[in-house]
Amino acid sequence: MLNRYQEAMKKIMAKYFSGIREAEEKNMIPYKSEQGHWIASPFDGNSWWTGGFYPALMWQFLSAGGDGRFRAEALRTEKLLTDEFRTFTYLNHDVGFMYLLSCGADAKITGSVQAKTDTLHAASLLMGRFNPAGFIRAWNHPSQAGFAIIDCMMNLSILFRASRETGDPRFSNTARIHADTTLREFLRGDGSVSHIVEFDPSTGSKVREHAGQGYALGSQWSRGQAWGLYGFTLAHMNTGENRYLDAAEKIAANFISHIRPDGLTDCDFCQPAGVERLDNIAGAVAACGLMELSRVTGKKEYMDAALKLVDGMLDHCCDYSDSIRGVLTHCTASYHDDAAGRHTNITYGDYFLVEALAKLNGTDPMLWL
Ligand code: GLY
Repeated sequence: MLNRYQEAMKKIMAKYFSGIREAEEKNMIPYKSEQGHWIASPFDGNSWWTGGFYPALMWQFLSAGGDGRFRAEALRTEKLLTDEFRTFTYLNHDVGFMYLLSCGADAKITGSVQAKTDTLHAASLLMGRFNPAGFIRAWNHPSQAGFAIIDCMMNLSILFRASRETGDPRFSNTARIHADTTLREFLRGDGSVSHIVEFDPSTGSKVREHAGQGYALGSQWSRGQAWGLYGFTLAHMNTGENRYLDAAEKIAANFISHIRPDGLTDCDFCQPAGVERLDNIAGAVAACGLMELSRVTGKKEYMDAALKLVDGMLDHCCDYSDSIRGVLTHCTASYHDDAAGRHTNITYGDYFLVEALAKLNGTDPMLWL
């Protein structure tokens, strides 16, 4: 008999299997579900930062014993992403998310030499965004030359991997410098993290912070907290450095103190009382980070918190019906931008829920390393 996590994985796989044809026919990378259909990212075409999560779902399903069509679909969408290497205007620091989870996953699972080369190419693009004043530049608008964001902690894994594969420490040295800047400038005394810090691009000194996708300046955007939690955990796993583990544990303690009784996650931990604005993506990312943190430290409290999050999502926010394409509901892209997606399904929410289930079921190929 399957346990509830195996059962959930089986149902999610079946639903995605039946959605492959629509994505294939439209030759697109699904971004989210709208009125029962997949829609592609409304921003920057296939260069939008989320493009790697759909192929990563396919690799997760394949690793969980899924049909070979998942592999074909992963490769179809990986090709769409590598075609984007030539659109320099749009690609940004999220080449880590995009290519580690597509080409990187392919290289890890199949041993494809071309996929490995493409992953290294993406790592080199991320290196090209490094400002020797001490940080990796996030975005491309001329007014954002000094912007760095907490999300980038997740992108560093592609650099650590590139150093392991090439034997060249430039990549991991860059990742460490950026991680140390993030540790120094983003982590607050209460264990929360800022979303955006703007540096003087010439000197590297901190100029100001921006509220970003959270409720307000100085608030706690929950997905940003989750990126910090999982990102510093990965930085520790990649380097063995205890300062990154300490940061991950501080962020975890703060995150855990904000998990709602129903196991769901508010979009911002400082949002006004009575506002019902959830972001389950944050809970799914945090669940994955907490499971790795539990494994690394041996502390059960992190696994307990991860299970509370996963159970909350399975109990209240999974829709297996045909009325939507994906599964996880109540995902919110940004606190103040409902047009980007509010209380809806977005593929990266599904990705992290599936990664969490795969960890619980023992099938996770651990695509971040
Ligand atoms: N990395 C952008 C986001 O989490 O929305």
